[in-house]
Amino acid sequence: MAERITTTSPATVIIFGASGDLARRKLGPALHSLACEGLLHPATQVLGVARSPLSDAEFRERLYTGVEDYARLKPEVCHLWEGAAEHYLYLDGDYDDPETYRRLAERLAHLDAAEGTAHNRLFYLATPPELYPVIIRRLGEAELNRSAPGWTRIIIEKPFGHDLDSAHDLNAQVHTAFEEHQVYRIDHYLGKETVQNILALRFANAIFEPLWNRNYVDHVQITVAETVDVGRRAGYYDGAGVLRDMFQNHLLQLFTLMAMEPPALFEANALRDEKVKVLRTVRRCVRSVRAQYAGYRMAEGVAPDSETATYAALELFVDNWRWQGVPFYLRSGKALARKASEIVIQFRRAPHSLFPQPEARLAPNALSLCLQPDEGLHLRFEVKTPGAGMRTRSADMEFHYAEDFGATALPEAYERLLLDALQGDAALFARADEIELAWGIIDPILATWAGPEAPPLASYSPGSWGPAEANDLLAREGRAWVMGCGA
Ligand code: BG6
Repeated sequence: MAERITTTSPATVIIFGASGDLARRKLGPALHSLACEGLLHPATQVLGVARSPLSDAEFRERLYTGVEDYARLKPEVCHLWEGAAEHYLYLDGDYDDPETYRRLAERLAHLDAAEGTAHNRLFYLATPPELYPVIIRRLGEAELNRSAPGWTRIIIEKPFGHDLDSAHDLNAQVHTAFEEHQVYRIDHYLGKETVQNILALRFANAIFEPLWNRNYVDHVQITVAETVDVGRRAGYYDGAGVLRDMFQNHLLQLFTLMAMEPPALFEANALRDEKVKVLRTVRRCVRSVRAQYAGYRMAEGVAPDSETATYAALELFVDNWRWQGVPFYLRSGKALARKASEIVIQFRRAPHSLFPQPEARLAPNALSLCLQPDEGLHLRFEVKTPGAGMRTRSADMEFHYAEDFGATALPEAYERLLLDALQGDAALFARADEIELAWGIIDPILATWAGPEAPPLASYSPGSWGPAEANDLLAREGRAWVMGCGA
């Protein structure tokens, strides 16, 4: 990966779907914070494209409200917006009309000449996914898929496909216009600092990696719990469900970073090659739990007899030398007790206890990677309780990002990902084969869920930790879900 101290080269960022929520909540605020950090080249232009008839001023106003509400570096601490607003421009047009792309080409040529954007173009597809093929085709027809002497790249938002076949088709469509090295498939989890810290923890330290295998690890748990329910997203969510919405992308990304071998180089393809190897070795036969929170079917836009799972728990195995026999338990759901994402590596128990514990056994050591909200690490081990005798109890050694680096030190995921795409570093983006392999794990589970062998659709109360069946998934092996990062 490139060093972070350089600014980007001058470029135009073209956002399709610019009048939508993502642009306002994530992209505008991320670009603003990057500019505040001095990481964006001052000539950078942002050109929003969408169907709504907005003026440049109205578009700027819309983005500004997003900056005020969501930016990490708010306008009160960074007064850049006034000077920068003129770099935000808008073009309205139909996504399927060649005329839109002719006008777009004209605007881009003008910006290159007048603003020095050097023929560098970063397209961002932030529209509903059904529009991706048409935009990609029209960009290709208008020859906006490459530029000389500059570079052209395209960021594609999730969901990338609905299943393996549609993801494969979308990859094929993308490749009719763009070469793979131009394509940046986004998974915002990879932009989270604490997710990247999995790599630092594993490969910048000598003490963890020797333990990172079947000889020392009993099992690994990955929890991504959300308190939000389906809200107003039922139109999308009821057709997707938790496996497509969270597992195919975010949870499998966390899982591959935990399970992969060290790449030889810290470089996009070396890293992605290792992730792909893990996905290839996942055992196809998966035990799973599916559940829906009580009341989901009453939400607006949800079918009254919907079988869509809003919660899932899976047991995955990686069939290779490092991980043979070590279960990876993954769980995620909506309307749960707490918003918290964490990974817990539960080590094997001490083989023999010398100490006359009243409790039957010593607690196993656990290393917890706290991804959000209180980003950091916890290492749990046994200590002697003071006083007579030889009793032990568990204690935590903790590290918190906010304490060491300050509360606003962690960039938002979209800041990091936009910066990387502008710098041509694809390490934190999914490659075509990676996306398809991930669907190759999810599709058979969805097929089982739709067939005669489907596990029953369990129910859970909103505000709980999910269905009892998810506890049974671990309990039959004498294990239990834990949250290792504190309340
Ligand atoms: C998105 C999903 O990709 O990730 C949402 O579509 C989910 O359903 C969100 O709420 C969670 O992201 P984060 O960063 O809040 O954990």
